[in-house]
Amino acid sequence: MKGSIPEDKIEEIRRRADIVSLIGEYVTLRKAGKNFLGLCPFHREKTPSFTVSPEKQMFYCFGCSEGGDAVSFLMKLNQLTFPEAVRHLAGKAGVVIPERTVSHEEKERRTLREQIRQTNELAAGFFADALRSPAGEGAREYLRKRGIGEEAISTFRLGLAPDGWRHLLDFLGKKGISPQLAEKAGLIVPRAGQQDRGYYDRFRGRLMIPIEDVDGHVIAFGGRVMGAGEPKYVNSPESAVYTKGNNLYGLARTREAIRERGFAILIEGYFDLISLWNAGITNVVATLGTALTRSQIDLIRRYTTHVAAVFDSDEAGRKALARSLELFLAGNIHARAVILPDGYDPDDFVRTRGREETEELVARALPMVDYYIDEILGGRGTLEEDRDKLREAVSFICRIEDAIARNLFVKKVSEKLNVDQDVLKTEVQRALSRAPAPQIDQPRRKTAGEIDHLELSLIHMMLEYPTLTPRVAESGVLNCFLTEELKSLGERILADAGKEEMPDASSLVSGLAEGPVRVKILALLMRESPYHEEWMDRLLVDTTRQIRRKWCKERHRILRRQIGKAEEDGNGELCARLLREKERLMQEEKMLA
Ligand code: UTP
Ligand code: MN
Repeated sequence: MKGSIPEDKIEEIRRRADIVSLIGEYVTLRKAGKNFLGLCPFHREKTPSFTVSPEKQMFYCFGCSEGGDAVSFLMKLNQLTFPEAVRHLAGKAGVVIPERTVSHEEKERRTLREQIRQTNELAAGFFADALRSPAGEGAREYLRKRGIGEEAISTFRLGLAPDGWRHLLDFLGKKGISPQLAEKAGLIVPRAGQQDRGYYDRFRGRLMIPIEDVDGHVIAFGGRVMGAGEPKYVNSPESAVYTKGNNLYGLARTREAIRERGFAILIEGYFDLISLWNAGITNVVATLGTALTRSQIDLIRRYTTHVAAVFDSDEAGRKALARSLELFLAGNIHARAVILPDGYDPDDFVRTRGREETEELVARALPMVDYYIDEILGGRGTLEEDRDKLREAVSFICRIEDAIARNLFVKKVSEKLNVDQDVLKTEVQRALSRAPAPQIDQPRRKTAGEIDHLELSLIHMMLEYPTLTPRVAESGVLNCFLTEELKSLGERILADAGKEEMPDASSLVSGLAEGPVRVKILALLMRESPYHEEWMDRLLVDTTRQIRRKWCKERHRILRRQIGKAEEDGNGELCARLLREKERLMQEEKMLA
């Protein structure tokens, strides 16, 4: 499904997209020979096997076999549809998609997700304008009191939901947004009671904080009361574009700084993030008021493998630390624990102590593993207490999936709690054998099925040297292909060769169905080409001949079986015909020899 974006536009967008800078926005890449290497965003790994080729405009992970071109990268990573991904790329490359593609009809067809995002954008604009209007004076005063400057206000697109029941409702109506859509976006709420009593604004008289996805699209809002009042925050409900546990606040605005500094400071609140950023500490990211999740860790890992997580020093903070340590260990993230003094949150701390002292506190933070063992498991206590701690330690160790990290932990804990290392190990082993095997996310390794390697080579040659295609066409060798999928790919390459604007290998291969053939070809194309220009003629002739020979052999096998059956049946006529064919086949083979 290509939506209604014209084919030639799609080709233009594909040609203008630069896969290295596109993927570089999500994955930290370093140059390695002709290609770029990074940690794969599609599976957990410690050593990079995710490869991006600027020359071929393709990516491929040698660990999990995920691969394709710029469009398929965006589709997979951000769960976009094809037209959504193409539009996103068009925006980046400055390609204008002709107006007719956003006709009324098209609007109807657009996915719900796209429509919700668009509605949220409109709402964010409305709120931002309201903050700047005379009615926004009170909210501006509130921000001034909290020390938030103009730059932070515009970067985070802060706004105001005016007090009243239908300011946004009316505004969206004028913009042609239906109440049903605005409700799906979570911006308005249907009146309770009888049906069709209409809707009212969810956010009223609140300071508005747009929540963006990593690409800066508004996917939800948090609205804070200014001054006293309950609840402190009203948030958008989850929607087709927003799941709390899959998103982090601020990342779109801070991901560059996170990459530059080499680590992320992880905190809990909207305002903590805005306040730290406002103070000049910009490598920050915040959870959305819920416990850290695996998928949030995966999101962070696109930008860095080092995190300094901020915790309160109270009991709740300790619990949160233990829980997230487990996730960091499982996610191969080097985590350090920043512990705030009693009664402070990051916002208070940076405002009273200043940027430098805050940076120092972060710089001094201990590895979270050490902190956990020292402060939470450690400390002197009675034997009884130690036994509890031992039990806690064992159950914690058991939850560490990585064997190396687990053994490290065993050693440290045994030293700290003064238990014999072997005793602890045995305890852990015993607990582990009782517990069900941990659910480890296995990389989706795709096994290559039956693929003919000669046919694969020929396709590979055509993709590397498009000038060979006319000769392949002439030879008719594709008719001798035994791997159906390779045959049809070959036919597509030949068909495309006749066109004026040759599509490149990346779009051809990305268009293949998921499966072993696609994986094999991607892997071949990402490796250094094994071919040399001057050998290509010989190689082509040779490979073509071998494919034909193999085909003859296969035909022989089939004929033998058919002849045997015809003899059995006493079908003399068929037998004679098959024998004639066999003779022809043998002649052909002689020519090939
Ligand atoms: P905090 O109460 O620490 O909020 O909750 P904060 O952002 O620091 O706000 P200020 O400084 O009091 O203005 C941390 C996070 O928990 C979620 C929000 O995401 C908030 O940023 N939260 C908190 C809610 O969603 N609803 C609430 O009522 C309270
Ligand atoms: Mn706060």
